[in-house]
Amino acid sequence: MGIIYNEKDRIFKLDTKKTSYILGVADDYGHVVHIYYGKKLRGDSNPVGMSSVDYKNKHWFFDGAWMEYPTPGIGDFREHCIEIKTEEGYSTLECAYDSHKIYKGKPKLAGLPATFSDEDTCTTLELVMVDKLVGLEITLLYSAFEDVDVITRSVIVRNIDTKVIKLTKVLSACLDINNDNYNGITLHGSWGRERHIQKRPIGHGRQGVASERGVSGHQDHPFMALASAGATQTTGDVYAMHLVYSGNYEIQCELTQHDSIRMVAGISPYNFEWTLEPEDTFTAPEVVMVYSAEGIGNMSRNLHDLYREHLIRGKYRNTKRPILINNWEATYFDFDTDKLLAIAKQASEVGIEMLVVDDGWFGNRFDDNRALGDWVVNEDKIKGGLKYLVDEVNKLGMKFGMWFEPEMVCPDSDMYRAHPDWAIEVPGRDAVRCRNQYIADITRKEVRDYIFDSMCKVLKSANVEYVKWDMNRPLTDIYSAGLPAEKQGELYHRYVLAVYELQERLITEFPDLLLENCSSGGGRFDPGMLYYSPQIWTSDNADAIERLCIQEGTALIYPLSTMGAHVTDCPNHSIGRTTPFDTRGKVALAGTFGYELDVTRIPEEDRQAIPGQVAMYHKYNDLVRAGDYYRIASFAENAQHDSYMVVSKDKTEALVTFVQVIAIANHGMPVIKLQGLNEEYTYHVEELDRDINGDVLMNIGLPIKGEFGDFKASLYHLKKVD
Ligand code: DGJ
Repeated sequence: MGIIYNEKDRIFKLDTKKTSYILGVADDYGHVVHIYYGKKLRGDSNPVGMSSVDYKNKHWFFDGAWMEYPTPGIGDFREHCIEIKTEEGYSTLECAYDSHKIYKGKPKLAGLPATFSDEDTCTTLELVMVDKLVGLEITLLYSAFEDVDVITRSVIVRNIDTKVIKLTKVLSACLDINNDNYNGITLHGSWGRERHIQKRPIGHGRQGVASERGVSGHQDHPFMALASAGATQTTGDVYAMHLVYSGNYEIQCELTQHDSIRMVAGISPYNFEWTLEPEDTFTAPEVVMVYSAEGIGNMSRNLHDLYREHLIRGKYRNTKRPILINNWEATYFDFDTDKLLAIAKQASEVGIEMLVVDDGWFGNRFDDNRALGDWVVNEDKIKGGLKYLVDEVNKLGMKFGMWFEPEMVCPDSDMYRAHPDWAIEVPGRDAVRCRNQYIADITRKEVRDYIFDSMCKVLKSANVEYVKWDMNRPLTDIYSAGLPAEKQGELYHRYVLAVYELQERLITEFPDLLLENCSSGGGRFDPGMLYYSPQIWTSDNADAIERLCIQEGTALIYPLSTMGAHVTDCPNHSIGRTTPFDTRGKVALAGTFGYELDVTRIPEEDRQAIPGQVAMYHKYNDLVRAGDYYRIASFAENAQHDSYMVVSKDKTEALVTFVQVIAIANHGMPVIKLQGLNEEYTYHVEELDRDINGDVLMNIGLPIKGEFGDFKASLYHLKKVD
């Protein structure tokens, strides 16, 4: 059993393979406190000899206590997790332990994406706390994933009073730990520059990441880790929180006066208000928590395993994805059936397996100023109709996929002309038009039904096997014509729930569909979206060198199998750099792998290289998709080269990627000490045609073959010698 209850001391101990998480009921009142999270401890007894403490009479009150779910107004002045307004005007909450349940497996979270598990790998604790005066019940949910060393948390709040209670803040988790000169690790970015790793010392006061854009966003990421001073890929303590949510969020850390750190995560309280009628519940999204005593790399691998095994669903979860060619950078809006078939024909000849038609196939969409919402095939462009095009592509032996941006409506669209109130905008105010489009008010059922039905009609009219679901602007002008004034504060969260509901309907209706999420590149790359799509477009910037940092940051917390990665043409459309075609292929190999270029017009030399790249993908994708990821060197840190490797779970095979970004004169080749191999094994290194022992590769290093020039990438394939 991964969770035990020590009844004598009223302590709960959650164990995974290498970690323990301990909380308890501290006093006669029933305050629930946090005791420990870290390396696995033996036994089920009270590890710190916690005895009943009279918190209310302590001179320091609650302000130094480690509260499991801190509430406001009772003397804990650090960040608290919940805020309320009652009809009486109460805002103070003081909860007491009420009851608990421990069981195998894990419950679903109503309307929300969440990790899942069978009864063998996961145990759940539901701990119920109650504030009887206010009439509020708070259930803290904890699931211990024994196999992947992860604890997940979420919260269900229930109104057990007879009057309405308003929630104005509901976070999902809180963690108090002793300080150890921690550095915060976060992912920062922008369009075309997503998820760059940022490290900063945690100082006194509150610091963290947040989004108020309605989506998780390019700029910050719903993830934060605390890494002890000097932590590396292989050493040091790391505590991480990752929120399974795709809307506004905050993750805050506070180094307190008592030299402990409080870390909280959940939905952003910005413009959030939720009405709980008597007996109503509110479910807060899941927080994934990882503790690693073995550095940052171990945190990454635990998250990768969790997401591959316990979050991503569907047919493509553990299988190779078809190599696609997307026409966006090839044609932008300027295409028709003939052009698409010319691309498909040439692509099929070099081994590409699926044609994806991007933005511009519908309505009056000749540029990005119009027609979103009009999900009807434009037969002036798609001459002969969609079925004809798809059948012709299928005849070439290729699959077919297409782009939608379902959450949007352009002012210049039939949809908006017919239903001007179907956009999120404040009546009487000219709403912000990012990319000349509004957000469709999908919190309204009739709008969701219209969008879903329009999509189904298109998808059922031909053999469409892939959908790219795009979302190209943040939410502004927050107001829904479908909600009364007192519920406008629910709009942001209802919007996220509506996205989830629409995507769930889509993958239920089309269970074999490969769905790829996208948001102006990687603006909504988060665990919530991964519950619906096994892959997400990582960035519109496919420059091989820029991608090194983007992919390093993304792979810090997401499996390589989820990162949409394409070989594009040069000079690169985002930044104008020219890199070797070979390097572009090897860098894209770390993700889903595909092409986004006009294969009929690229240099002949590049075209001729594609069959070799296709073979490379087929040779290595099982390893890349399912193996353990190790970060060896970071171009973002050393400004010279980048290196990462993937090792099969049984450690008999590995693939090392090395990119010499900037050539350095008379410098010697860098030492690349490998990780994750079996020291006892001997490996044949294919490219060097040499057998080298695992302990040599990990302690002396892999000899990198010298190559002259910038932007050169090489692969090293290791196989255990029998
Ligand atoms: C943004 C996406 O990131 C691109 O890949 C492309 O699909 C465009 N939108 C189309 O408008």
